[in-house]
Amino acid sequence: MKRTTARTRKQMKLVVTGALGHIGSRLLQSFQPDQLQEVVIVDNFHTQRYCSLYNLPPEINYRLVEADVTDPDFNLLPLLDKNTIVVHLAAITNAPASFQIQEEVERVNFRGTQSVAEACLRARARLIFVSTTSVYGVSDGVVTEECSDEELKPQSPYAESKLAAERSLQKMGSERGLRFVTFRFGTIYGTSIGMRFHTAVNKFIWQACFGEPLTVWRTALDQQRPYLDLTDAIRAIQHALTQNLFDNRIYNVVTDNLTVRQITETIRREIPDLEIRLVDSAIMNQLSYIVDRSRIESKGFTFRGSLADATRDTVTLFRPFAMRRGAQ
Ligand SMILES: NC(=O)c1ccc[n+]([C@@H]2O[C@H](COP(=O)([O-])OP(=O)(O)OC[C@H]3O[C@@H](n4cnc5c(N)ncnc54)[C@H](O)[C@@H]3O)[C@@H](O)[C@H]2O)c1
Repeated sequence: MKRTTARTRKQMKLVVTGALGHIGSRLLQSFQPDQLQEVVIVDNFHTQRYCSLYNLPPEINYRLVEADVTDPDFNLLPLLDKNTIVVHLAAITNAPASFQIQEEVERVNFRGTQSVAEACLRARARLIFVSTTSVYGVSDGVVTEECSDEELKPQSPYAESKLAAERSLQKMGSERGLRFVTFRFGTIYGTSIGMRFHTAVNKFIWQACFGEPLTVWRTALDQQRPYLDLTDAIRAIQHALTQNLFDNRIYNVVTDNLTVRQITETIRREIPDLEIRLVDSAIMNQLSYIVDRSRIESKGFTFRGSLADATRDTVTLFRPFAMRRGAQ
C-alpha cells in the first residue's frame, strides 16, 4: 500500500464540509501540527454549532468559509487543487425527521454531494464521502459491501439520499475519473464539542442522566444494529488520509453490532437507576442486521473504540445531573 510521506502530507490541504457538526468538530481537533498545509472549514451554520470553533489547536492553519454547499452562488472550486482532500460531512442528518422534509434532504444530501464531487473532479481533488450503514435498511443476518442492489433497502428519506449519493459517486468514478472513498459509518456514539443527541446511544444517555425513562420497543430489544465509536470514525478518516485510500470503493466502518439491551445495560453501569419503559409495537419491519467490517480491516485498519468508555465519557459531561441519578 502506498504510504504518504511527511513531506507530501505537509503539502496536503483539507477541506471539511459540515465541519462544525458532531463528527467534524472532533475531526478538527485531531490533526498533527505537521500534517497539513491548511484545513478549510466549510459550514452553513445550519445547526448553529458555533462551539465547534472553540479552542482549536493554534498550530493548525484553519480557515472558515461560511457557505451552503448547495448554494448556486457558492463556488467550491477555488478552494481546491490536486493536493486537496475533501471530507464531505455536510448533510441533513436527523433520519426520523427526514420524512417531514424529504425535498430538503434530497437537495442537501444528494445534490449537495453531487456539487461537491463535481468540484473535486474539476480540480482533481480527492473525496472522502461519509455515508451510513442505514442504506442496508432491512436485512437478515450479516451484510457486507458486496451485497446486491436488491438487498439495499433504505428505510428513510435520509438513508435513500445517502444511497443515491453513493451511486452517483460510483458513476462519476467509473465514467469520469473521480477519485474517492465512501465510508458507511454505523450510528455514532461518543463525545465531541459539537455533539448532537438525536442518535440512539447519545439520546439514551441524555434521557438516563436527566431522569427520563428510555422508551424501547419490546420487539427491538434484542435486534442488532451497527454502531461506531466516534474515536474510530476519526481514525478511519485519518487512515484514508495517511494510506491514500482513494480506491473508489465502499467501506463499512463499524465498531460493534449491538442490541438495545446491550446498550441500556452498559448505560446502567453508569446510571444504576435507569428506567426502561418497554412499549409494544407491531412487529417491526426492520429485522436485525449485522454489518461486516472486514473490508476496512483488510486495509490495515484496527478498531479500538469501546461503548463502555464512550458511555462513561458522555455521562461525565452531565456529572451533576448524573450523580443525582446514582452515578459514581
Ligand atoms: N452521527 C452519526 O451517527 C452518523 C452516522 C452515519 C453517517 N453520518 C454522516 O456523517 C456526516 C456528519 O454527521 P454529523 O453527525 O456530524 O452531523 P451533524 O448534523 O452534527 O453535522 C452536519 C453539519 O453539516 C452542516 N450543514 C448542513 N447542511 C449544510 C449545507 N447545505 N452546507 C454546508 N454545511 C451544511 C451543519 O451546519 C452541521 O454543522 C453526515 O453526512 C452524516 O450523514 C453520521
